[in-house]
Amino acid sequence: MTTRPYEAGQYHRDLPSELKRLYRFATLGFEKEARALAALGLADGMKVLEIGSGPGFFTERLSTLVPNGSITGLEIDPELIKHAEEYLPSRAKSPVSFVQGSVLDTGLPDASFDFAVTRLVLQHIPDQAKALAEILRVLRPGGRLVVVDVDYRAANLVYPVKPAVEAILEKTAMAHALRGGDPYVGRRLFKLLEHAGFEDIDLEAAVLHSGVRGIEWCATQFDPDRLQPFVEQGLLPEEEWQAVRDAVDAVLADREAFYLNVMLLAGGRKPSGA
Ligand SMILES: C[S@@+](CC[C@H](N)C(=O)[O-])C[C@H]1O[C@@H](n2cnc3c(N)ncnc32)[C@H](O)[C@@H]1O
Repeated sequence: MTTRPYEAGQYHRDLPSELKRLYRFATLGFEKEARALAALGLADGMKVLEIGSGPGFFTERLSTLVPNGSITGLEIDPELIKHAEEYLPSRAKSPVSFVQGSVLDTGLPDASFDFAVTRLVLQHIPDQAKALAEILRVLRPGGRLVVVDVDYRAANLVYPVKPAVEAILEKTAMAHALRGGDPYVGRRLFKLLEHAGFEDIDLEAAVLHSGVRGIEWCATQFDPDRLQPFVEQGLLPEEEWQAVRDAVDAVLADREAFYLNVMLLAGGRKPSGA
């Protein structure tokens, strides 16, 4: 078992399954995330730092918003950087480069970015204050940060409501917390940015849902196979896993099935005099 809250190869059945989940989630409603990013200060021409850029699926979309700017992806996992470096050259709409390292100690120069964005990463960082202090350091005075993340209570809402599915989502959130993750980061974002020294803080939301692409596209989010590592580690009995599989099959067969996820976007500005 890893000591890092997030390891791409252990967050789902295997790495390809996790990549598929990340791809689908990055493309589910990007235009809404883009609108919120613009409302919180992202503009073309900016020099952008994307923290936890992963396999590059979100980076690809982000690049469409800054065709005259540039993106630096900071990522801790060399395997994901390799994936992004192979995936992006033919797809990115602006220059993209990668730095391997942790948000806790990026090694990047002071005051070197106009805009920083980190999506679905802060929930995996045990020392969030340290991460935000480091982001503040690398932003230029007046530069902006947007943290995109979720709160467990407003994420992965599945209809029809199945107790087996709800119970497992709850268990997964608690397991995430035990590994040092923060399932409730969404409701803490405003105060986290405030304590880190950002100003002009506000929250936007982007509602991702299955209405356009259909429930199957979103099923990677509540795929029972995401629980396989728990079964293998003896944390989840086989019978319970089977009950979840049955419940998910019933959801997918239901004509009224719907999936909903509220992405929260918290933005703040580095003080001009800082
Ligand atoms: C759930 S994935 C999200 C990937 C991408 N941002 C997206 O929205 O599709 C979390 C990412 O954060 C990275 N990560 C986790 N801890 C990190 C750290 N301390 N510093 C930098 N990146 C980190 C992971 O390796 C992974 O790529």
